[in-house]
Amino acid sequence: MTKPVIVRTHLSLFVRDPEASAEWFADVLGMKITARGPQWVFLSFGRKHHDLALIRAEDGAQQGGLGLQHYGLEIQGDVDDLRRLYGMLLSKGVKVVKTTDHKIGFGLYFEDPDGNRFEFFAETITDDEEGQRVLGEHNAPSEPVELDPLYT
Ligand SMILES: [Fe+2]
Repeated sequence: MTKPVIVRTHLSLFVRDPEASAEWFADVLGMKITARGPQWVFLSFGRKHHDLALIRAEDGAQQGGLGLQHYGLEIQGDVDDLRRLYGMLLSKGVKVVKTTDHKIGFGLYFEDPDGNRFEFFAETITDDEEGQRVLGEHNAPSEPVELDPLYT
């Protein structure tokens, strides 16, 4: 049987106001708006035509207990780069939820204007095979850790 070979992914989110959210994603994640429709805006991290689609939700839509828990974005760089992004988020008034030690790296969780959760993560184990082994061995830990934001 044929197996899917996934090359890249994109995420599509319901939001209250696609245009306002698109501005937020452009500002906070450095994304570029690549396309628009009557009820949606598409954005790119810079290479692909779109990595994120923002679709207008129905009036009165609320965050629920099912569905997306978070979308993780592996950053280029190390923990100090993650701390700089932490400072950037706080400077922009972004709600930061928590910072965690995953044994294979550190996670910094934050929310978009509709409460969708995202994670910047900085890998401390860069070898993928080693990362899989360590994550499995430690049962995918998510320990609270204090990270100091950097404002440089
Ligand atoms: Fe994650």
